[in-house]
Amino acid sequence: MVTASPSIQPNYDRAAWAKGYRSLEQEQDYWIDAIDGEIPAGLTGTLFRNGPGKFEAGTESVQHPFDGDGMICAITFKEGRAHFKNRYVQTEGYVAEKKAEKILYRGVFGTARSGGWLKNAFDTKLKNIANTQVIYWGGKLLALWEAAEPHRLNPATLETIGLENFDGKLKRGGAFAAHPWIDPNGPDGEPCLVNFSIEAGLSFTLNLYELNLKGEIVRQQDHVLPGFAFIHDFAITPNYYIFFQNPVKFNPLPFVLGSKGAGECLEFEPEKPTKMLVIARSGQSKPQVLEAKAGFVFHHSNAFERDGKVVVDSICYEQLPTVEPGSDFRSTDFATLKPGQLWRFELDLATSQVDRTLLVSRCCEFPVVHPNFVGQDYTYTYMGAGIATVGNVPLQAIAKINVTTGEELLHSCAPDGFINEPVFVPGSVDGDEDQGWILTMVYDGISDRSSIVVLDAKKMTQVTRLWLKHHVPYGLHGTFTSEVFI
Ligand code: CO
Repeated sequence: MVTASPSIQPNYDRAAWAKGYRSLEQEQDYWIDAIDGEIPAGLTGTLFRNGPGKFEAGTESVQHPFDGDGMICAITFKEGRAHFKNRYVQTEGYVAEKKAEKILYRGVFGTARSGGWLKNAFDTKLKNIANTQVIYWGGKLLALWEAAEPHRLNPATLETIGLENFDGKLKRGGAFAAHPWIDPNGPDGEPCLVNFSIEAGLSFTLNLYELNLKGEIVRQQDHVLPGFAFIHDFAITPNYYIFFQNPVKFNPLPFVLGSKGAGECLEFEPEKPTKMLVIARSGQSKPQVLEAKAGFVFHHSNAFERDGKVVVDSICYEQLPTVEPGSDFRSTDFATLKPGQLWRFELDLATSQVDRTLLVSRCCEFPVVHPNFVGQDYTYTYMGAGIATVGNVPLQAIAKINVTTGEELLHSCAPDGFINEPVFVPGSVDGDEDQGWILTMVYDGISDRSSIVVLDAKKMTQVTRLWLKHHVPYGLHGTFTSEVFI
């Protein structure tokens, strides 16, 4: 292992980490003036980030951070300066709960309405919290949450415009997953956005969507498949969509009766294989189902085709991380959880054989690749990583992994910094795969402020650090567009 920062200290302060899960109530709008180093002249565009920003309604707290209200941050890079703005997505639930100063909706991850068991029994209405991803595509800024419709926002002001259903083309319920990919070489010879949705039940329906540059759904297909599906992310290649159907059982009774959130009724079956669904993008064949032991998967790094095989790199957990009912997520004991680890799966479509190799054993999450290499044979993935080489720990570094050689290059923000997902911004149109910048938001538990760190993606050294005037709670996903809206 090679390290790009001078001091790597394995210790972290859990109390400092937990402060990053406080709500940020205030909506801000300012030019950033506390800057270490210089913003690169070629860095122009907007980093949009989404994540739970508010964890209470009145004095009542959510049970799990994933139940927090979606808050969008926009960091604009323009002519060597940077601007920060954050706004809450004005979802129906956010507006109603803010007014009522109490929790009115049940959360997927166990948040209960005030009033106890009776108030929650048989109330299966969920709150579309719009808190997972935000993407600018086809002239629309969309805040995504996997179980419901996207919210469309004004990219300049972050004001909420309303729900988006793409001219009525979203299927029943209008769900649109939080993990779209942009295929740099779509079937029409131009980039397209690829996404899915799931209608869950005893069997499930998988809906697939491809959108052109104008933001119109131009290709779609759906498949009814057996079993219960909890699928958060997927992978694409030029010819296939790939889904990992995690081995989970769903017992809806405690959810229907109001004693647990839907997400708490999942039972992970670690001894069972993961079903790997390979679906032709041409829509001309039934899904091929392969099986292999993979643990639980939230996120994939990338996939590509090579010699009749589909290669998929994914972050796998031996156990599903859960929050026990009644416990406080801010006092998570990292040591009791299993780490996410990066594995490579080689799916032989002719024989249905799957081979797997461990690529990264240290704790890691939120992998990203250069946007031109999505679905293509590639060399580098960047992800949040732990400092300790074994076990589950908070993410305090950005790791650059050579997926061919296994070589790691770490940029550490330890001991005070806790990182969010990295985003890759290419340095030029046709540069090397690792020519560009890595942008991430880092929470500093000592100064209680967040910053945007810009790294040189080749060397993993810090180019600049932009200090915000406040903290930003740990977020989920974000995207970069070269467009500037201010
Ligand atoms: Co995700």
